[in-house]
Amino acid sequence: MKIILLVGTRPNFMKVAPIIRAIGRYNSSLSSKSIEPVLIHTGQHYDYKMSQIFFEDLKLSEPDIYLGVGSGTHAEQTAKVMMRLERVLIKEKPDLVTVVGDVNSTLAGAIATVKLHIPVAHVEAGLRSYDRNMPEEINRLLTDAISDYLFTPSPDADENLRKEGITDKKISLVGNVMIDSLLYNKQKAEQSQVLSQLGLRQGGYALLTLHRPSNVDEKESLVKIIIALKEISQRIPIIFPAHPRTRKNIEKFGLQSLFEDKHIYFIEPLGYLYFLKLMMNARLVMTDSGGIEPETTVLGIPCLTLLDTTGWKETVDQGTNTLVGNATEKIVAEAFKILDGKGKKGSIPKLWDGKASERVVDILTGGKGL
Ligand code: UD1
Repeated sequence: MKIILLVGTRPNFMKVAPIIRAIGRYNSSLSSKSIEPVLIHTGQHYDYKMSQIFFEDLKLSEPDIYLGVGSGTHAEQTAKVMMRLERVLIKEKPDLVTVVGDVNSTLAGAIATVKLHIPVAHVEAGLRSYDRNMPEEINRLLTDAISDYLFTPSPDADENLRKEGITDKKISLVGNVMIDSLLYNKQKAEQSQVLSQLGLRQGGYALLTLHRPSNVDEKESLVKIIIALKEISQRIPIIFPAHPRTRKNIEKFGLQSLFEDKHIYFIEPLGYLYFLKLMMNARLVMTDSGGIEPETTVLGIPCLTLLDTTGWKETVDQGTNTLVGNATEKIVAEAFKILDGKGKKGSIPKLWDGKASERVVDILTGGKGL
């Protein structure tokens, strides 16, 4: 069985790495029938620190095929992936294509594949923020509508799919593949020297990431957030590895001077292991990344999500996550609560246990999941 695994952006790599490892384990448990994995990178993310460093940290083998699509408008990026992938699919004739998450490469991969009548598996299916202004929400809705296997991380996700009329036969609750990567790499991350390199101590800093268009593409929203950060940084230093989109916009809006503050460390994006170590030891994480919400819940670190909605409802209901949007006062008030020792404790959702990828491979090879 030939399975294509499609990646394109930073949050895809840690979702596919454990699936490839699970395929390896499956293959070595058999003498005959085996899976041939083919890793395709669309090139949606291409900077060393947005892509290659993750291959190194996660010990992912180099992609078998690189589509080199790069940046562009949504339509350009999606169309380029579809056109370049279609050619590859016709040549490779895979039995199945696996797409992960909710980025433009995910949707483009799913469309190009189903149109050639090749089955698609969507890993991390069923997440809904119910906010159609988010490009990711459109990508998720459409990818789920046309996929043959829908591998979900939670019962909430199953329910979302059922509400859209998707038949139970296609839905498999497997858990969270991103957490497979986190648990697998936690010990290795412990050994990273990033804290001493940045002069930080355990629990002595807040960690921030910011890249959503709704927060960083309009000057007004970005300024509201930066004012909150300046206030919070009077009580605790903030480490801010900035996404290229955010860095460019800060420069475009002439906001660099707001970061000339020794309490906010404006640094380059970090690799997987460095970032994991920083998360594990932070007093508080502030983010608008969909990946960091579940990761902080599993690590038991309080997280403020600078969005009004989330696809990861269980991280709010059960975990350590609080939605704060981007209003200055709300961000500051919730951050101060955490600094005053009143952060959420939370618990870990069921099946976020490091075995989601094994369940995926088991089901793809005819099993019923573990
Ligand atoms: C994409 C995903 C988003 C995900 C995020 C993780 C979509 C619609 N969005 O957003 O869901 O959370 O990745 O990072 O797919 N750029 C670089 N170097 C790179 C990549 C991008 O400089 O390696 C710059 C380019 O100027 C580009 C901009 O960042 O125009 C945005 O990149 P893009 O891939 O369009 O979206 P992200 O904001 O990264």
